[in-house]
Amino acid sequence: MKFFVDTAEVSEIRALAEAGLVDGVTTNPSLIAKSGRKMAEVIAEICAITPGPVSAEVTATDFETMLVEGRYLRGIAANVAVKVPLTEAGLRTCRALANEGTPVNVTLCFSAAQALLAAKAGAAFISPFVGRLDDISTDGMGLIADIVQIYRNYPHLKTEVLVASVRHPMHLVQAAKMGAHVATLPPAVIRQLLKHPLTDSGLSAFLADWKKTGQSIL
Ligand code: G3P
Repeated sequence: MKFFVDTAEVSEIRALAEAGLVDGVTTNPSLIAKSGRKMAEVIAEICAITPGPVSAEVTATDFETMLVEGRYLRGIAANVAVKVPLTEAGLRTCRALANEGTPVNVTLCFSAAQALLAAKAGAAFISPFVGRLDDISTDGMGLIADIVQIYRNYPHLKTEVLVASVRHPMHLVQAAKMGAHVATLPPAVIRQLLKHPLTDSGLSAFLADWKKTGQSIL
């Protein structure tokens, strides 16, 4: 399973990449706004850190402008994946960019029907938002199960399921069990994945015993 990092904070991405935990990056207009930086600059820096796909999202809502924005974003680096919203104009843009060889991440997906449309429009990735569905008392992970099953039924569809709006480790574990191709994880969730109380207590015990020996390795 591929891990993308869901952030526009370059220092976070660099640290996680050094641990081999970054197969790609996703951003969105809210994450760019949070970084306080210019989008093109941030995307270029991130693309230099990871060779994996880096999603950069268009902000227009009409087809013609989305296409121009998408081409501009793709021009920033060879590993940019253009992100478009799941609207009719977004799907038209997806098909046009896909025809040019640009990988497209179709975002803001909240239903299996939407995911099927995105695959038909040539999306490289579909981004269902599990956390936001959970927030409205709907089964976010159930949607992932449905999309994975539907895509498996039609092997000619090459769209990868990119689980987004991940809020906690169980979202990731369930997504991996279901066979989702990718999860995009906020850095805080990646750190949560690391944690286990038995790891902490085990390490404390080892270090306490080691201290008693009076030895040092170096
Ligand atoms: O990049 C899209 C995404 O993962 C959104 O997450 O936490 O804002 O619902 P969130």
